[in-house]
Amino acid sequence: MARKKIALIGAGNIGGTLAHLIGLKELGDVVMFDVFGGVAAGKALDIMQSSPVDGFDCKLSGGSDYAAIAGADVIIVTAGFPRMPGMSRDDLLTKNAGVMGQVAEGIKQYAPDAFVICITNPLDVMVWALQQKSGLPANKVVGMAGVLDSARFRTFLAEEFNVSVEDVTAFVLGGHGDTMVPLTRYSTVAGIPVPDLIKMGWTTQEKIDAIVARTANGGGEIVKLLEKGSAFYAPAASAVAMAESYLKDKKRVLPCAVMLNGEYGMNDFYVGVPVVIGEKGVERIVEVEFTPEEKAAFDKSCDAVKKLVEDFKKLGV
Ligand code: APR
Repeated sequence: MARKKIALIGAGNIGGTLAHLIGLKELGDVVMFDVFGGVAAGKALDIMQSSPVDGFDCKLSGGSDYAAIAGADVIIVTAGFPRMPGMSRDDLLTKNAGVMGQVAEGIKQYAPDAFVICITNPLDVMVWALQQKSGLPANKVVGMAGVLDSARFRTFLAEEFNVSVEDVTAFVLGGHGDTMVPLTRYSTVAGIPVPDLIKMGWTTQEKIDAIVARTANGGGEIVKLLEKGSAFYAPAASAVAMAESYLKDKKRVLPCAVMLNGEYGMNDFYVGVPVVIGEKGVERIVEVEFTPEEKAAFDKSCDAVKKLVEDFKKLGV
């Protein structure tokens, strides 16, 4: 069986990390595209030269010709600009809107059958724009945010409880921004929900509230520390988990930004909800029951995303 082909649009910090992880996991061959073709080609060559040492077989190439992505099975988009200190994700809207148009055109022309994962921020509106402009079916275009947000939540919860990250599950919904909705009721240690752990004296409500706030600001905390650019290791790992579920038809249940068509009472925009990712792309959207407070938080998050979509439309790009 021929190897799968994975195209990375954007060969910056996340793009380079993606290529390295995909190689190490032997998910397929990698083509990197960037407006700076030399950066894409250089990173591809560098990673390929690590393959004899680490013992993986993966062909990597890079450049600035969209024709090279032809026939890709998976495309991961990070093209655009990252945040700098003091910026919110939404501040990137104008800068990255034009980029999405170019990327959508390239995908439409050369790889219309691919499963596309968008990472570029502001995520929920960028993935919507990518789907609309490329014309690819909505079940084949998804946004990476929830896997990352819940990984941050899991990290902090595992630290708080002093248990393995492997035994912590977390549930984060809504837009990828300050209004994201971490659901503690559905977050567990080995199946025990966080509210029960509070009752068992493992932690306090105040500590959980602080962890929820830190999760919502998880990206901003890293932007502030790095001073130039934003997080890239955990975002890349999160997108690779989504790509792997598609390529291996694992049918993992992962929180992803997807187009809602009536689910959760919402229509025609992308926002983060749990979905099943398998060989058909988004195979199922999981609808959970909300408490009134959770519903209010989810609606607020959706309103923030819808406003950004309207702002995007006004740009006329
Ligand atoms: N087409 C292709 N590549 C582009 C384009 C374009 N039109 N415009 C910019 N790029 C490339 C840049 O040359 C750069 O190599 O996108 C890459 C982005 O890389 P970084 O600046 O290192 O940003 P990164 O940290 O990888 O984040 C990328 O993901 O999480 C989001 O907020 C983040 O929007 C940002 C994106």
